[in-house]
This record gives sequence, C-alpha cells and structure tokens, in this order.
Amino acid sequence: MNAADALKVLVIGGGGREHAIAWKLAASPRVAEVFLAPGNAGTASEPKCRNLPIAAEDLDALLDFAEEQDVDLTVVGPEAPLALGIADMFEAAGRRIVGPRRRAAEIESSKVYAKTFMERHRIPTARFEIASSEERALSVLAAWQGAPIVIKADGLAAGKGVIIAHDRAEAEMAVRHLFGGGLGVPVQRVVIEEFLEGEEASVIVLAAEERFLVLPSSQDHKRRDEADHGPNTGGMGAYSPAPVITPEIEAKIRERIIAPTLAGLNAGRRRFRGFLYAGLMITPSGEPYVLEFNARLGDPEAQALMLRLKSDLAEALLALCDDRLEGLELAWDERASVAVVLAAQGYPGTPRKGDAIEGLEGVEEEGLKIFHAGTIRSEDGRVLSNGGRILSVAALGENITAARERAYRRLAQIRCEGAFYRRDIGWRALVRETAVPLAGSAE
Ligand code: AMP
Ligand code: GLY
Repeated sequence: MNAADALKVLVIGGGGREHAIAWKLAASPRVAEVFLAPGNAGTASEPKCRNLPIAAEDLDALLDFAEEQDVDLTVVGPEAPLALGIADMFEAAGRRIVGPRRRAAEIESSKVYAKTFMERHRIPTARFEIASSEERALSVLAAWQGAPIVIKADGLAAGKGVIIAHDRAEAEMAVRHLFGGGLGVPVQRVVIEEFLEGEEASVIVLAAEERFLVLPSSQDHKRRDEADHGPNTGGMGAYSPAPVITPEIEAKIRERIIAPTLAGLNAGRRRFRGFLYAGLMITPSGEPYVLEFNARLGDPEAQALMLRLKSDLAEALLALCDDRLEGLELAWDERASVAVVLAAQGYPGTPRKGDAIEGLEGVEEEGLKIFHAGTIRSEDGRVLSNGGRILSVAALGENITAARERAYRRLAQIRCEGAFYRRDIGWRALVRETAVPLAGSAE
C-alpha cells in the first residue's frame, strides 16, 4: 500500500456506473487518486480523478499501468473485461481487484452455464431447455407448452440476445434469427425458457467467496419507451429501494438464492469476489426467481445505489480484497434514490453522437448528482454526446415520488439535440406509494 494511505485506485470502464463508483471512491479520505480507463467527460472533471487513454478491454495495457503506478485497488465496472479474465491476470500479479475471475464470471457471460448451474443447485429459476442447433431448438418448441416463450442466446449480447415470443410461431422466428446470425454472428446455443409473471427487481451483494453483504434493492427499467414498451436497452433508469422486495422476500433471496449460489460457485472452484447481481422476478405470490446473474454492479442501478451509500467505498472494497468482509457493515441513506437516463437519438441502435450538451453547469446540490456516460470534452471545452446513454441524473428524496421529482426537475434543464428520456421511471413504486386502500376492502 502507498505511504500514508494515499491510495491509488483504478476504475475500469467509462459509463455512468463507473462515474458513480469513481465519485464515491474519490470521496474517501484514504484515496489520493482515481484513474479511469477510459472514463468520460464527467470523470475528467471530478476531483482526484484522471482519465487514461486505455480501453476497458485492453487487459495488457491496464495491468502495465497498474504495475507502473503501483495501483492499490482496481475496480471493474463492465462485464467484458471480466469475461476476458482481467481478475485472473491482476490476481496472478498480486494486485487487488474487485470483480470475479473469468470462470466465476461465466455466471453472467454464459446463460447456458448460469441455467445449468441453477438447476444443479436448486436455485429458483424459470423452467428451461438448452438447444445447440436450430433443428434441436425447433423440436423443443414443437413440444413446448405455454406462452409467451423466452428465447435467450448464450453469451454476452448487451441485452439484445433475449427475445420474448408471444406464441410458438414467433418463437420459431426468434430461433431462426439467432442461429441465422441475426445478432451479427450465429449463436451456438440458445436457452428456451418459461415466461414468468411478476415484478422485476434486483438484489446486488458484495461477495467474497461465501461471505456477502446485501446492498439495498433496486429496480431497473430495461425497455426504451414509457410503460415498458419498445426494445430492450442497458437500462433507462433505476430506483432504490424497490418496495416489491419486502424484508421477508429479501430473506428468501439470501437463503434460497445468494447463499447457495456462492456456495455452489465455491464448491466448483469458481470463487466469486466482487459484486454479484441477481436480476429477479418476484411472482405475485412473493416467490423470487432468478432471471439472470450479473458479475458486476448494474448500470444505472449503481448510480442510484452509490448516491445512497454513506460508508467509505474504498474501505469496503479493500476489506473485500483482503478477506476482511466479516464484521463490515455498510451504512445507507434512509432516503430513496432515482436515476433517470438521458439517451441519444437512435439508442439502443446506432446512437447519434457529437451534439453539445447544455445545462450541465450549476451549483452542486446535496443528494443530487449528474453522472456522465457517453460524453466527451471537445477541444474547445464543450461537453459533447458520445454514446447511447449520455448521462443520468440521480437524486435522493424522502420517498420515490420526491426523489423522482428532483431528478426530473434537474433533467429538464439539460438540453442535447435528439436526446430523450423516459418520463415514468419509478412508476411501479409510485403506484405503491400513492395507492390508498379502499375503505372496507378486505386487505
Ligand atoms: P435477461 O438478460 O435474462 O435478464 O433478460 C432480459 C429481460 O427479459 C429481463 O429483464 C426480463 O424483463 C425479460 N425476461 C427474461 N427472462 C424472462 C422470463 N423467464 N420471464 C419473463 N421475462 C423474462
Ligand atoms: N441495468 C442492467 C444491467 O446493468 O445489467
């Protein structure tokens, strides 16, 4: 460790999640410098932070930098470097890194692995079949009962590999699309699974082998358009906590999902160290099922969560890496948070880029933060759009209603040609907050 605790930290990635992580790390009195590879215009002007011209997938350059600078702690934001084995490389070099090794990250990078793992360890998930050819997939569908039917491509597909088919004919089309190279390259395998009814929510834990700390629940909004219409995206907004996750349901998630998942990974020599994200469907009867695992924090869930985190993030992540998680507690703001994403025209397809973003200046407000994502600073000092998700505005409030009002008020002051955002982030929680039980109703 560097002298007098002046920690050097490296954050890998350049999205809103990484801005939120870097901002929180920089707030630690123990941290002297936060490097981002590659970062964005927001991280470039964050105190203590410095962007590096290194891509998140350039593992050799990242390790070289960490060695040269003797970086104390590296935090991996996105999934791609984990799937490439960045944690294996850093750990082999004796460097602290937050993020699982490649084999443990397969819980996210391979849907087939994740589903068979869950089946083996009796972790509640949708009933499924795996097919390794188009022919086999079509024959599974021929015998399939029930609809809709969910078809998932194996491998990382940035949210584009999941198709919800309303009937068998649509499912057959989806299978032909995926095996026929509709995602760019033909898929090798698909998972065909039962459609689960309910409300989605996420529970993320900070895990070191079998020990874990549960972060507050959150809910993402994956569809591009209001009322959950339009194509899937990386996430258009998130809030925390998600009221659908009651304390009773959280207990079930710990016991039936998180603990057996970590135990199963460990038993299979896939020790998991980092953020384990369970994307869940909570059925109307209150049973949690796993839709997917991620081997990292969510984006924009991280923005909503980091705004609520009161503890020193650097301290917690050092404890994680040094196997001192036991006894560690994280303190969270009691208030709710809402993060709303501003996306570029064209997203989630090819986004329009290079437009000036106005309205970013202004005094810092307690409990409100603009996290940049696809932004870049031009030579003349303006901030320009540079990606699908441009930024997110995250705000705290006494409840979801108050937090979202704050976030939307700030967002309304930001202008960028062609950019758009969903105006209904948090609607499910809002329905709960504003629901008044009918007089004389049975409940
Ligand atoms: P995944 O990448 O597996 O989380 O799937 C992306 C999205 O598809 C999820 O966030 C859900 O909205 C939806 N989805 C996936 N699997 C199912 C399922 N079995 N039942 C209902 N919806 C699903
Ligand atoms: N927002 C969903 C994810 O990060 O996977």
